[in-house]
Amino acid sequence: MKNVIPILEPIVSPWMEYVVNDFQLQKDLLDTYDSPLNIHHLQSFEANIEEYVSFFKQYNFRSKIFYARKANKCSSLASAAFKSGIGVDTASYAELKQCLDVQINAEDLVLTAAIKNTKLLRLAIQHEVLIIIDNRDEAKLIYNICQEEDKQANVGLRISGFEFDNKKLRSRFGFDIDQVEDFILQFFDSKNVQKYMNFTGFHYHLDGYDTRQRGAALHQTLDLIETLKKHHFNASFIDIGGGILINYLKSKEQWDLFQDELKKAVLGNRDPITYNNNGLGFIARDNKVEGKLATYPYYNEMPKINFIKSVLEVKNEENISVFKRLEEMDIELRLEPGRSLLDQVGITMAKVAHRKQDANGNNLIGLEMNMTQMTSSSADFLLDPIVTYSRPSENKNEVEVYFTGAYCLERDFILKRKITLPKLPEIGDIVTFVNTGGYMMHFFETEAHLFELSQNIFAHKISAQTKASDFFRDEKNLESMRDKKTV
Ligand SMILES: Cc1ncc(COP(=O)(O)O)c(C=O)c1O
Repeated sequence: MKNVIPILEPIVSPWMEYVVNDFQLQKDLLDTYDSPLNIHHLQSFEANIEEYVSFFKQYNFRSKIFYARKANKCSSLASAAFKSGIGVDTASYAELKQCLDVQINAEDLVLTAAIKNTKLLRLAIQHEVLIIIDNRDEAKLIYNICQEEDKQANVGLRISGFEFDNKKLRSRFGFDIDQVEDFILQFFDSKNVQKYMNFTGFHYHLDGYDTRQRGAALHQTLDLIETLKKHHFNASFIDIGGGILINYLKSKEQWDLFQDELKKAVLGNRDPITYNNNGLGFIARDNKVEGKLATYPYYNEMPKINFIKSVLEVKNEENISVFKRLEEMDIELRLEPGRSLLDQVGITMAKVAHRKQDANGNNLIGLEMNMTQMTSSSADFLLDPIVTYSRPSENKNEVEVYFTGAYCLERDFILKRKITLPKLPEIGDIVTFVNTGGYMMHFFETEAHLFELSQNIFAHKISAQTKASDFFRDEKNLESMRDKKTV
């Protein structure tokens, strides 16, 4: 049975349109920087920051945003976040060191690394960067280093295990909320610990995208703060981490249809729409589909500030909303958005190396890139890529293709989805994956086979007049700081 391959049209910003409509610009860029290449648009990043900042201005509670730089490794973005007036959340020694090297103020940094060794903690303590403590061992290590350095550390505690719908939201991170009060009362009991460690607030980051869960966690943390106040422990902030939704796709109908067709394919009721009929989380059992789509919710109707607004409006049993309690208790709300600040900020371009057909007649388009340069924890990146043809008007015949990569793995498919194109690409044509700035381009990138890591370039503005020479390499950001002898 041959059916139409469902399409998933991405939201494409005007700056991305300029790039994909200009084959010569793309070619010049790939000739200069090699394939694949990650392009970033700083104006879009700044606009995302501004959206959050102006949103919080309508409320009467204090707030502070830290850009979670783990979502994209470029230092230019960390610098731009700081220049736009927000802080940076760091998750490793190199992330923190680089931020300090580019002169980001210590009070605009937070260290949330999952694993913190002595070297990393010492750096944070020496520079008075707020450390979010994950566990008792870490707390003791911080105390020891503070004594050695004779410095006081600002610390917050990461917590988890909130209750939601009569179940515990389990996590490997942080102190269990039911045990953290005892820990605080015991650990900070001594004058000496208080001399070296200044407890300032709480932190959590929840998986999933349920705004009611986030709201419930905030209420439970506010309750905890009220209890601790009676023991003279004053928390001044709650940092709710990141995980704020963004919407990648234009159409709900396309999103729903895609899932319906995928289920049909998994049941064998239509031709596959993924390589080897991968169910992306759906499986067939007894002629029924089980499981869930194991991808990011690429289409959703609660992106960014809509998501936060919904969290802030969650009410507790006394019918008081989160934002009212933050206001009344004078608690600062902190946020660590990564992906959502990178919405519409980056694209990844790669050159077509070859075309071939496998034994089943599938068209395989070999790209000069590998799967790790387009990978996140999502089972697939469900956005149609855009092909820029050197000869767009010749031999127009729709084709269905898969994109394959350079690793010696049968599974090196850049996308698992089959894609319909207006015509077969030629060698040297350029494929662009849009909105890859958050996680897709860097998070799992490896250098197997000694392939070099892809380069990252930036422009502040991009228009129809933009030339290859208007872009700068991310590393230039650090080099220019070095030239100014600030590193
Ligand atoms: C502690 C913490 N903060 C912030 C983030 C950023 O989340 P996102 O990029 O989804 O906004 C993460 C992501 O894993 C995280 O673990």
